[in-house]
Amino acid sequence: MSGKPFYITTPIYYVNSVPHLGTAYTTVAADALARYRRMTGHDVHFLTGLDEHGQKVAQAAEENGVSPQEWVDRIAPAFKEVWELLDITNDDFIRTTEERHELGAQAFLSKLYEQGDIYKGHYDGWYCVPCETYYAEDQLIEGECPSCGREVKFLKEDNYFFRLSAYQDFLVDLIENNPSFIEPRTRRNEVLSFVNSGLKDLSISRTTFEWGIPLPFDTDHVMYVWFDALLNYITALGYGENGEPEFSGDLGRFWPADVQFVGKDIIRFHCAIWPAMLHAAGVALPKQVFAHGFLLTKGEKMSKSKGNAQTPASLVERFGVDAYRYYFLRDVNFGQDGSVSMESMVQRYNGDLANDWGNLCSRLFNMIGKYFDGVVPPMPTQLTDTDETLRAYAAVLPEKYEDAIQSLDFSGALESVWDLVKGTNYYIENEAPWGLAKAEETRPRLEAVLYNALEAVRIAALFCFPVMPNTSSDVWTRLGLGDISAVKDIAADAQWGKLPAGNSVTTGDPLFPRIYEDE
Ligand code: MSP
Repeated sequence: MSGKPFYITTPIYYVNSVPHLGTAYTTVAADALARYRRMTGHDVHFLTGLDEHGQKVAQAAEENGVSPQEWVDRIAPAFKEVWELLDITNDDFIRTTEERHELGAQAFLSKLYEQGDIYKGHYDGWYCVPCETYYAEDQLIEGECPSCGREVKFLKEDNYFFRLSAYQDFLVDLIENNPSFIEPRTRRNEVLSFVNSGLKDLSISRTTFEWGIPLPFDTDHVMYVWFDALLNYITALGYGENGEPEFSGDLGRFWPADVQFVGKDIIRFHCAIWPAMLHAAGVALPKQVFAHGFLLTKGEKMSKSKGNAQTPASLVERFGVDAYRYYFLRDVNFGQDGSVSMESMVQRYNGDLANDWGNLCSRLFNMIGKYFDGVVPPMPTQLTDTDETLRAYAAVLPEKYEDAIQSLDFSGALESVWDLVKGTNYYIENEAPWGLAKAEETRPRLEAVLYNALEAVRIAALFCFPVMPNTSSDVWTRLGLGDISAVKDIAADAQWGKLPAGNSVTTGDPLFPRIYEDE
C-alpha cells in the first residue's frame, strides 16, 4: 500500500453483553469513513475491538457461572458476527486479553513507573462498576453515579496512582491551542472546564479482584481497566510488543491516529487522561478525538441496562444492511443526540431509498432495456441547459462530500449525494424520455437524456458506496462496470463521461423494495 496512512479507531466495547444499536453506531460510522478514505487513496488502518478486563466484565462472567476468560471467549464471536453482518471492514480486531496488548500495556506502564509518573498511595473514594469510573464524594448526584445514576461503591485500598495532576497545564494548552483536537465544540468546552476544575491523580490499579493485567512492578495489583483499555489504540500497532516502550514493526507508521471516534460519555478518558498518558510516555497525540452523541429511543439513551436496546440483526433482516447503515448516518447528526424509531426508519427507507434512489435506478435501467436493448447509448456531444444543470450537480458533489466528511458530517455528505439523486429524478421527469421514445427524430435526444441520467446514477452510486456498499456495487455491476471497491481516486472516477457507451445494462430486482408499516 502506497497511500498516505489513515488510522481510525472506535472505542473497544465491554463484553458484558452483545452489541446493540447504540454500540454499533460508532462502528458503522467509522466504517463509512474508512471506506471513503480508501476511495481517496489512503492507506487505511481501521481498528475496533473488545475491552475484556475489569470488574464489569468479571461480574457478567460470574452471573453466567463461567470464568472471565471463558466469558470473553464466548462473547467475542458475537461481536465479530455483528460486524460481519453490518459489513464492517476493520483491518484489525484487538482483544485486551491478547498477549500483544498485555505486553504493550506493561511496557508502557513500566516506563511511566521508572520515570516517576506512577507512585503508590492510598485511595478512598467511590467507584461505579457499570462505568468503571472513580468519583470523589462531591461529584456524586444524590449519592449515585453522576454518569449513569446507578449505585456506587466505597473503595478504600492501597493503589498506584498516575500523576495526572502534573499534566493539567499541558492539557489546557493543548485544548486551547488546537481547536480541532476535540470535536464538536460543545465537547471541547466540556473537557476544558473539567480540566480547569482541577485534575486529581488517577488511581490506576486494583487489588480487590484479579481480572486485569498485573502491574509489571507489583503483581499483587491489576491495572485499572481504563488505563489498560486506552492503550489498545497503540498496542494494536505493535507498541511494546517487544517488551520495550516503543513501536516495533511496520504498523507504527499509522500512529498518531487521524481520528478516534468515541461516544460523548467517555470524553474525559479520551480527551484528558489519554493525551496525558501519551504525553507522559513521549508518544505523539492523536490528531483528533471526535465525540458523537447518543441514540435515543423515546427520549432516553438506548442501553442494555435500560432494556430499550435492540440488536442490529432484526433491523437488518427487515431493512437490509445498506438501509440500516444509511438510516443511522442520515437521520442522526453525528456529534449530536438523535432519536431513532421504527416509524422514522420506515419513512427514510421508503422516501429516500425506495422512492428517490431505488426507483431512479429501476426506471432508468428498464428504459435502457426497453429503448436500447440494454446497451448504454453514446455520450452526447451537445448539452442543453437542463443537461448542464444536471452535470453541475455531479460536478460539485466530490468537493461537497469531501467537505462534509472533513467535518464528519455523514448526514450532510449523504444529503449532497441526494441533491444529485433528486436532481436526476427531476431531470427525467422534465425530459420525459417515454415521450422522446415515440418518434424517430427525437431518438438522438432520448439517447442523450438516458446517457446523462445513467452517468448521474453511476456517480451517485460511487458516493453512496461508503455508506451503502452492497447496493452501490450492485448498481455498478448492473451498469457493466468493474469492482467499485477497487476505486482509489473517487474524484477522478467521478469525472463526467467515464461510463463507456456500449456497456450492457441489466435491470434486476428493485434495490429497495417498498416496506409497508404493518409488515
Ligand atoms: N469499554 C469502554 C470504552 C473503552 S475505549 C478505550 C466503553 N465500552 S461500552 O461498550 O460501554 O461503550 C462503547 C461505546 O458505545 C461508547 O462510545 C458509548 O458512547 C457507545 N454507546 C453506548 N450506547 C450508546 C447509544 N445509545 N448511542 C450511541 N452510542 C452509544 O465505554
